[in-house]
Amino acid sequence: MSVINFAGRDLLGLEGMSRDEITTILDTATTFSEVLRRDVKKVPTLRGKSVVTMFFENSTRTRSSFEAAGKYMSADVINISGSTSSATKGESLKDTFLTLQALTADLVVMRTPHSGACHQAAEWVNIPVVNAGDGTHEHPTQGLLDLMTLRDAKGSLEGLTVAIVGDIAHSRVARSNIWGLHAMGANVRLVGPSTLLPADADRLPVTVFTDLHAGLEGADVVNVLRLQLERQARALFPTEREYSRLFGVTKSALRVAKPDVLVMHPGPMNRGLEIGGDVPDLPQSLIEKQVTNGVAVRMAVLYLLLGAEG
Ligand code: NCD
Repeated sequence: MSVINFAGRDLLGLEGMSRDEITTILDTATTFSEVLRRDVKKVPTLRGKSVVTMFFENSTRTRSSFEAAGKYMSADVINISGSTSSATKGESLKDTFLTLQALTADLVVMRTPHSGACHQAAEWVNIPVVNAGDGTHEHPTQGLLDLMTLRDAKGSLEGLTVAIVGDIAHSRVARSNIWGLHAMGANVRLVGPSTLLPADADRLPVTVFTDLHAGLEGADVVNVLRLQLERQARALFPTEREYSRLFGVTKSALRVAKPDVLVMHPGPMNRGLEIGGDVPDLPQSLIEKQVTNGVAVRMAVLYLLLGAEG
């Protein structure tokens, strides 16, 4: 494998990323995960660099893990939330980015409800832009942390069958997972009611199932997604109880998967709705490992894009 130089690049999505590029990020993240196990979680690697996070949507995990990642590497991290920024005074996104660049930010992390807005912003500034979730499009650091977690658990992603279950149409997590898993040689299944499957599923490297039992049969991994009701303009299934009965990933639904099936969820979870209330606590659940690896992956991304050395 050749190690890729990411200095000065943006991270906007996993679509089109090569296996070598992904492996470089995962290997770097694995190195950084050692820092997270230390008593003193602090290295000087990004001293003197400033990272701005700008979130125009709610977040618990993603925002705090970018912040932790920057701080553990001694960067100065400045957090801006959409509701308190000048965007509420009518400032355009372009002017906001030009302002951040003029304030000498070295890198900007953005979450936005608008698909494609991170790509747009990356054209306006010459500092790296990291997409922390853009609308229903991509969430590349989530995809990478999922790949890292699976690689840790299985050794390799090659040939694994991964079933992504739930509200795929609205999920940027699903899209980043699809491209990342495909690049790493896994087989991807999308499982959900037809109203929650993406309209462009035939363009994606996936097999589609509208029946949970069939979709989980023989799967090595099940990645469960939240119903993103905030993105659904109209009701796409009769009731939550009906959805849960047909597509809820319960212990009994998992019986048709491989006996050592691994369970993932990007969070936030609605226990008892898309996932059985007790499933996240099973020994084969990787959910907490995903969160920890999220910090390591974001450390790797900041380190690589900022071209830090030593
Ligand atoms: C997801 C997101 O915001 O895309 N959460 C996350 O970043 N871990 C998924 C979701 O909101 O359901």
